[in-house]
Amino acid sequence: MLTNLRILLIISGGIAAYKSLELIRGLRAGGAEVRPILTKGGAEFVTPLSVAALAREKVHGDLFSLTGESEIGHIRLARETDLVVVAPATANILAKMANGIADDLATTVLLATDRPILVAPAMNSVMWEQASTRRNMARLEADGVMTVGPGHGELAEGEIGIGRMAEPAEILAAIEKALGGPLAGLRALVTSGPTHEPIDPVRYIANRSSGKQGHAIAGACARLGAAVTLVSGPSAESDPPGVETVHVETARDMLAACLDALPVDVAICAAAVSDWRPAAARGQKIKKGAGGAGGAPPAALELIENPDILAALAARENDRPRLVIGFAAETDDVVAYARAKLAAKGCDWILANDVSPGSGTFGGDHNKVHLISAQGAGEASVEEWPHASKLDVAARLAERIAGVLGGASGGAS
Ligand code: C5P
Repeated sequence: MLTNLRILLIISGGIAAYKSLELIRGLRAGGAEVRPILTKGGAEFVTPLSVAALAREKVHGDLFSLTGESEIGHIRLARETDLVVVAPATANILAKMANGIADDLATTVLLATDRPILVAPAMNSVMWEQASTRRNMARLEADGVMTVGPGHGELAEGEIGIGRMAEPAEILAAIEKALGGPLAGLRALVTSGPTHEPIDPVRYIANRSSGKQGHAIAGACARLGAAVTLVSGPSAESDPPGVETVHVETARDMLAACLDALPVDVAICAAAVSDWRPAAARGQKIKKGAGGAGGAPPAALELIENPDILAALAARENDRPRLVIGFAAETDDVVAYARAKLAAKGCDWILANDVSPGSGTFGGDHNKVHLISAQGAGEASVEEWPHASKLDVAARLAERIAGVLGGASGGAS
């Protein structure tokens, strides 16, 4: 199951570090390669020698070691891995991760990696329950960091409570799940955010899409093991971990990036692509008309239609994704319009959502969707999903995709 997988294991400073030695043995026994990083605190609890002996690898520890950097730089350490595991993860390292602090090799690698991250927290129960740790854990979860444990039981100080690091066997199971989810071996393409269509060098046409739902979907598919390409228009959302993110501005750039990502097994078009663009973007800023009021009237803006990315993907002949999913953001008659859209765009599923002004969907953290799926011969089934966070909608969608495509067989090559 773990054969040939590369695990970067960060051991930070907690009494549970001794259990990480057992974890290394388990990983090696399962066929994984383990590259260890021992923080300064971690080295107070286990020695570099015992870690190196079990991992049969050099132990990395110092960001500023020139020899270390010349052998393997911290960027390579961050990237040449399938999964980064932090075990034990102290309250301190979790706080740094949640805030993007990079002040030693371990935290620099955590900031520099684009691979999935799994943490096994270990600390005193008061520290675990502390408001600051709660905030940090919520932040990390939203950033797509996976967590295993902590468990309840006797803690180092003799107290009983929550905070014990998960047992090595539990961490191994979490690693297997992280690497071998139901979408493992499958490729997913997700579009997200608005597009910006230039009028002139300073002005553009856009819309209120935040990119939250699309980014959440990309993260959810990656967590189930898919290799995900996210093509994102301008968005304040950060790139989901473990996802290859391509940043674009216009609908035409978005289409080109999507076609570049083919072949994929599933395409999910969550972007709010601008339907029109100015017929000709001016090379110079359009001037306001001399003399303000009473000056020349504003020039009429001629618009032309943008390519429809969803329809284009659904119409591909040789490399059509096995599942093409679109969104229908409507302000009224949501389900009726979505049914029509399913047929018009030639896609397999439509997630219909209400974006009327009172719904709070655009820019908000929650969504209320109906899943409408084509049943052949003009038939469609409609499923109503409960009002839920965009993260939960994304997780549910990823599970549904796994239910249909599940496993690596027949994956896009
Ligand atoms: O036609 P409408 O914009 O309502 O369709 C919405 C669905 O189509 C969304 O899935 C959106 O991502 C996709 N779309 C697209 N390219 C466009 C317009 C919409 O991919 N130019």
